[in-house]
Amino acid sequence: MSIDKKFENLFLQVAIKAALASSYLVGKKDKIAADKAAVDSMRLELNKIDMEGAIVIGEGELDEAPMLFIGEKLGTLNGPKLDIAVDPLEGTNFAANNLPGALSVIAVAKKNNLFNAPETYMNKISANVSERNVVDLDYSIKKNIYNLADYKKKKPENLTVCILDRPRHKEIIDELNKYKVNIKLITDGDVSGALLVTEKKYGVDMFLGIGGGPEGVLAASALDAYNCFFQGRFIFEKEKDKIRAKKMNIDDLNKKYYLEEIVTGDSIFCATGITSGDLVSGIKINKDEFISETLITHKSLDLKKIIKIKQKI
Ligand code: FBP
Repeated sequence: MSIDKKFENLFLQVAIKAALASSYLVGKKDKIAADKAAVDSMRLELNKIDMEGAIVIGEGELDEAPMLFIGEKLGTLNGPKLDIAVDPLEGTNFAANNLPGALSVIAVAKKNNLFNAPETYMNKISANVSERNVVDLDYSIKKNIYNLADYKKKKPENLTVCILDRPRHKEIIDELNKYKVNIKLITDGDVSGALLVTEKKYGVDMFLGIGGGPEGVLAASALDAYNCFFQGRFIFEKEKDKIRAKKMNIDDLNKKYYLEEIVTGDSIFCATGITSGDLVSGIKINKDEFISETLITHKSLDLKKIIKIKQKI
């Protein structure tokens, strides 16, 4: 069963309005305020939609309200049952410091079709590969690079890998250097990082490394529309995360999830630029009007495009 086309525009506007709300706080050095503005806007707009929505990937847990917490119910309760994953401000540092790449992100699927997981780290891999066993989280870096080079009929030195610039990735980066692979280091924002494999114009062949689990689930829903490969393995280090995972019926804490286990069936994904970045341009305000750019995908209708809209504030 697919999600009605009318929801594309509704969720597009949710992402746009959250990005606009946050854009007023760009460069104000206050990531909490910039995040809160996006969260409050998302909640307000989501509650206007005729649906029975439930947050499955949110900004925090119940006790951390007023974030959009996992389990929160949204919408008029008059409409389809939907699972909602949100990252109202992806790249809080980018927004606070007026750096490129801040986004407002939302992904929606029919009830029980989006992975419901606690906020932990996730080891991830994405590539524009339509089959299994070319790249894999369990392969060595060498095997992933040489398999992907074969698949793309390129030399390893002509491949580009995107990875978060973190000390935990030193060994991977050293190895990529050994094979003379080009590296695109990102300081934050791995929803965007994982999506740079989707189109040739971004010049990225593979995304690797450990980042946020929620960001992994969000990226997976857009990667699904592009028929790309994604795997993620949650990292449950703290005891409280392990207990919560068990409560969420995750029995095998080391399980490697394929994209189709993270998001199933139809989904809509929207990522609106707050500041301009690799994927989309940021919000531009001119008197009582503003321009936004959003990457939107709708899997069942094969929609994948960037929509630029001028509208009244
Ligand atoms: P925030 O928007 O919550 O600040 O997250 C930014 C981000 O870079 C994510 O894109 C990424 O998944 C995560 O942080 C990585 O976490 P860490 O900074 O702890 O390595």
